[in-house]
Amino acid sequence: MFTRSVAVIGAGYVGLTTGACLASLGHRVVCADRDQAKVEQLRLGQVPILEPRLPELVTEGQAAGRLRFVVDAAEAVRDAEVVYLCLPTPMGVGGVADLSAVESVLAQIRHLLPAGCVVVNKSTVPVGTAARTRDLLDRADITVVSNPEFLREGSAVHDFLHPDRIVVGSDQQDAAERVAALYARLGAPAVLTDAASAELVKYAANCFLAMKLSYVNAIAELCERLDANVRDVTEGMGYDRRIGQAFLSPGPGWGGSCLPKDVHALLQVSDGADFEFRLLRATIDTNTRQFQRIVDKIRVAVTGNRQGSLRGVRIGLFGMTFKAGTDDLRDSPALAVAALLRQAGADLAGYDPALVAGREQPELRGITVVNDPMTAADDASALVVLTEWPEFRGLDWARLAGVVARPIVVDTRNLLDPDVAGRAGFCYHGLGTRPHEATATPRPRTELAALVP
Ligand code: UGA
Repeated sequence: MFTRSVAVIGAGYVGLTTGACLASLGHRVVCADRDQAKVEQLRLGQVPILEPRLPELVTEGQAAGRLRFVVDAAEAVRDAEVVYLCLPTPMGVGGVADLSAVESVLAQIRHLLPAGCVVVNKSTVPVGTAARTRDLLDRADITVVSNPEFLREGSAVHDFLHPDRIVVGSDQQDAAERVAALYARLGAPAVLTDAASAELVKYAANCFLAMKLSYVNAIAELCERLDANVRDVTEGMGYDRRIGQAFLSPGPGWGGSCLPKDVHALLQVSDGADFEFRLLRATIDTNTRQFQRIVDKIRVAVTGNRQGSLRGVRIGLFGMTFKAGTDDLRDSPALAVAALLRQAGADLAGYDPALVAGREQPELRGITVVNDPMTAADDASALVVLTEWPEFRGLDWARLAGVVARPIVVDTRNLLDPDVAGRAGFCYHGLGTRPHEATATPRPRTELAALVP
């Protein structure tokens, strides 16, 4: 079997997935992270993020002796043939990606890299970073390669092991081929290109996805105005293979740690290149407007008109993470909606299967986080589904109807079956569909305390 010695610097979402998956493909991997506590946890097989199959791969890799965790980047790179940089590149001032983590690691390892090794930029970095990395390294014997990742949180391991494509960019073709060969067992098409093009692929792809979502959210709004049904419209669109069914679900807006950061970064890059990327700006504006549109929808559902007041109105939020299958709250659209609801004076209780009440999380300020859906629903004048956790569909909606102050549900993910909600006594408001009246009288209201044995 073809194996290489690989160092991965940074054991966050991208680095840990990359390290564990490369080890599962047979490579010898050393993962470095400066966070000592995290490294100790990982050595015990404890993975600090919610990511299916990752704990198993971390344990298996270590047991097989193919995966090691260290604190010191210098130790990790000592015998490496390929060094992956998987470092955070947060959005800095004015939407410019902040590369200080990459710069500081390069300063630390540049003299220690074995002759002839390849440095791979895996994180999403601005176009031109490979060239900059080369300058910072200032080592003629080392090649820099861009190999963007296309991992979704919540299915990162699956995405790594079943990629649609591998993109590798370098000005030295042999180095690009060496990196592409690491993934040979996956059998995915490889796009070998120059470094700038590889870097741009990542932004172009993420921004396209964001644009697709803003588009579908706008179509959903139009459906409401034209009395059409967005479920059928998107199904009809999605069968066109040029469009595809994926990423056609309307929602409260798109978010997470990647899409918002990347659209702003590409806008910045475009400005810098003297190109006015109006389509991208409209994509962002549509998303910002979407948060307010959801609040307006809740306002109309609760008060009957667009000017009604939400002051003192208790609202139960179902879901706070930016999407289902993750515990990540970064740039969560659910929290953007919650912030606007709070500004409007609403009183918020929130339940999310991935969150535990009582943990101090600054993002959740102003929301009373509770550990079960019944408590979130208690005495609420509306329940709002903000994250598409499948388990919300299977809740006992008749029971929930028995503890709310008013049986109104606003489903910003079109997740629930409107008939089930209606039969439980709820008036159902989805996106891009007609409101669905209750078809049964809800249970008489019961004090939640009376239900607790
Ligand atoms: C995104 C991309 O999908 C990955 O390909 C990419 O590798 C990753 O960013 C990255 O740059 O690292 P991720 O941020 O994990 O992945 O999240 P997505 O699954 O793309 O979801 C983004 C947002 O769009 C979420 O708020 C989600 O709820 C929303 N969404 C997604 C919808 O509202 N409707 C949909 O149909 C799909």
